[in-house]
Amino acid sequence: MGWFMRLVNINYIDVDKYEYYLGRTVSSEGVVLLKQGVKLNENYVKQLNLKGIHYIYVIDEVSEGIEIKEVISPDKYFKMKDVVKDQFNKVKKNVNIGLNMNIINNTVDDILTMLTSNKDIYLSINEMRNMDDYLYEHSLNVAISCLYTGILLKYDKMKLHKLAVGALLHDVGKLFIDPKVLNKPSNLTIEERKEIEKHPELGYRFISDNYGNQIQPQSKQIILQHHEKWNGSGYPNQLSGERIYEMARICCICDAFDALTSKRVYRNPMPIYLASEYIYSLGNIEFDFEIAKLFLSKIVRFKEGSIVKLSDGSKGIVYSQNKSALDRPIIKLLVSKEGYSIGHKNIFIDLLEEKTLFIEKQLESTILD
Ligand SMILES: [Fe+2]
Ligand SMILES: [Fe+2]
Repeated sequence: MGWFMRLVNINYIDVDKYEYYLGRTVSSEGVVLLKQGVKLNENYVKQLNLKGIHYIYVIDEVSEGIEIKEVISPDKYFKMKDVVKDQFNKVKKNVNIGLNMNIINNTVDDILTMLTSNKDIYLSINEMRNMDDYLYEHSLNVAISCLYTGILLKYDKMKLHKLAVGALLHDVGKLFIDPKVLNKPSNLTIEERKEIEKHPELGYRFISDNYGNQIQPQSKQIILQHHEKWNGSGYPNQLSGERIYEMARICCICDAFDALTSKRVYRNPMPIYLASEYIYSLGNIEFDFEIAKLFLSKIVRFKEGSIVKLSDGSKGIVYSQNKSALDRPIIKLLVSKEGYSIGHKNIFIDLLEEKTLFIEKQLESTILD
């Protein structure tokens, strides 16, 4: 089922000028903050901002006809995130109680079922993030994108399972690093950087010592090697090329991509199309280029509902995707190149056919003036 809505950055919502209705219920810590369908006002926007929520789905005039398709519904996503959060918090509180590997395995199987039951997969990143939950959401996102990539690599179910368990736990070592250093907004000192770079080994040791017989060696290698780089410039062991375990090479790409596209205390998220270019540009340098190309071949560059500027100066909203060219979607024009508002005319441009036009950039604004 599709909904007529789009994802917007709440900093650009202007409730005085336009009407917005919430497209999806927003919850935080299991508590509903705002219900689907509610009309947004200044106070609501302020509250969302305070809760660290920066992107929401809205139904407004320009979103008419836009269909959002998702492999994993936000409801299921947030439930899984809460499971990861709960598990990680248990480790933080008491290492001896720690993880319940049955719960981890079940979560992985749930994601796998969702992804494999949807044959028509292409990766659309969940942008409804909460900065305070970075580690949990990051872990879940990396597990999801690793699974996508594993499916593209035609891994069997057993292999996919090992890949996802390792990916879900790849940063578990960060639980043992001082949060003040992890979340430091300014530049890190050499000592602080070294401290953070211990996390693959800390995670590997924690898992080996406590769950050695409940977790496959391949999953553990992902934890240990996910920061090794193709050219040998990574850590902890400066492995290079195919000496890095293949599943860790997958995790390295998905990890970098998710980190770039999330908001951190020290920087804003990079738009998906730019993060994709970044990953591509580092193929054979930091990343396994073949795997990177495969991963990128399924990444939606401009999500439905994004406002974009075309190379002729006109502006429009991404209406639907061309599955054979995810950087050339179908656009509904909103503003002509001369600057006139033309949304009501229902003019569509298929960038697969209009070969001389391309998307120059994605606009952050949700309004067009
Ligand atoms: Fe990491
Ligand atoms: Fe990571």
